[in-house]
Amino acid sequence: MELENNVVKGLGFQVAAEKIYSKMQLPLVVKAPTQGSTIGISFVHRKEDFISALELAYRYDRTALVEQFIEGREITASVLGNEKPMALPLIEIVTKTGVYDYEAKYTAGLSEHIIPPRISREQQEVIKDLAVQAFKALGGRGLGRVDFMLDPQGNPFILEVNTIPGMTATSLFPDAARAAGIEFPELIDRILKLALES
Ligand SMILES: Nc1ncnc2c1ncn2[C@@H]1O[C@H](COP(=O)(O)OP(=O)(O)O)[C@@H](O)[C@H]1O
Ligand SMILES: [Mg+2]
Repeated sequence: MELENNVVKGLGFQVAAEKIYSKMQLPLVVKAPTQGSTIGISFVHRKEDFISALELAYRYDRTALVEQFIEGREITASVLGNEKPMALPLIEIVTKTGVYDYEAKYTAGLSEHIIPPRISREQQEVIKDLAVQAFKALGGRGLGRVDFMLDPQGNPFILEVNTIPGMTATSLFPDAARAAGIEFPELIDRILKLALES
């Protein structure tokens, strides 16, 4: 659910927050939609933390995104290509702290990249297919990374499509490429060639 900051202020912050809250069930995730690296995100387990979570999101954005928290595996699909994009091997992310936050993303050793993920091959194919569809639907070109949460029944939920995925030493995309036999220099070469294609 999305809520405009100024609308909230107009209605009265508490009233609007109550309205959203009544339509959803704890735990919730409140996000600043235009941010990345888990900045502006709160995991809300108690009702009394909902308002401060919205306030944090509004520090970064005019809108806040409120989602249902999905307890389950986190999987990411790296996508490479222009007209016919392909999904690289999937990665399951496991963090030491249980939250894939800023620190876990950029500190070596705080998160584990499991390739292939601990799900069936069939399910991997479903996720890859969804990732390519999402990338195409948004007009993605060159490269992208589609993040998923899987609920306990294995239903995939797309969290987001990253159009400039991280390329640091702890990043996911270079690991996915390596698992496909594409070393970093070749990966950069391929990304540049894709960018130059008309
Ligand atoms: N609805 C959700 N349920 C459970 N965990 C979530 C949910 N949304 C986000 N997360 C967790 O928060 C992290 C960051 O969220 P994401 O939407 O991908 O934002 P960012 O653009 O900052 O990466 C995810 O990698 C995941 O670990
Ligand atoms: Mg993300």
